Amino acid sequence: MSAAPPQGRVIWFTGLSGAGKSTLAGALYAELQRRGERVELLDGDAVRENLSRGLGFSREDRDTNVRRIAFVAGLLARHGVTVLVSAISPYRGTRDAVLAELPSSLEVFVDAPLDVVTQRDVKGLYLRALAGEIEHFTGVSDPYEAPIRPALHLRTDLRSVDACLTELLTLLEVRDVAHA
Ligand code: ADX
Repeated sequence: MSAAPPQGRVIWFTGLSGAGKSTLAGALYAELQRRGERVELLDGDAVRENLSRGLGFSREDRDTNVRRIAFVAGLLARHGVTVLVSAISPYRGTRDAVLAELPSSLEVFVDAPLDVVTQRDVKGLYLRALAGEIEHFTGVSDPYEAPIRPALHLRTDLRSVDACLTELLTLLEVRDVAHA
C-alpha cells in the first residue's frame, strides 16, 4: 500500500478587489505546477459562478462564501494538495476563524491603496461603485478589515509581480523547512 499523502497547505490571499490577488495566486499556481506540485486554485470570481452562485455581498453572504471556500480548501489539503485561495474575504474575524481550522494555512495580505486600485479599476467596478451604482462595494461603501499579522504583506503598488512571487516562494520554503 502506498503511504498517505503529506498534508497539503492553504495559502489564503486576501485584499481589495483589484489589489492583485488573482494575479499573484495565478503566478504562484503556475510556478508550483511547473515544479510538479499538486496545486489547486480557488478564486472568488470562479467560486461565485459555481459553488456560491446566487450569493450576494451582504456580510452574511460573504461569510458564507468564505466558509464554503475554506471547506473545499480543507478537503483538498487533506489529500496533499496545495490550495491557493483568492477572495476579498473582508472580515477579519471570519478569516481568522476559518484559517485557524485549516492545517498549515498562511494568510497573505495583497495590499494596494484605495486610490491605486481605483485607478487600476481592472473590471470597471470602482467607477460604478463611486457613482453609487453598486451598493456595498468593498473599500468604497463596505468595509475591508486588513489582517493584523499576516504571514506575508505584499504591497503590489510598490513591488513587481516577479518580486512578490519570489517573496511567496521564499515564505513557502521557510515554512516547509520549519515543518519538515
Ligand atoms: S468576498 O467578499 O465574498 O470574499 P469575492 O472575492 O468572492 O468576495 O468576490 C469579489 C468579486 O466580486 C470582486 O472582485 C468583484 O469582481 C465582484 N463584486 C461584485 N460586487 C461586489 C461588491 N459589492 N463588493 C466587492 N466585490 C464585488
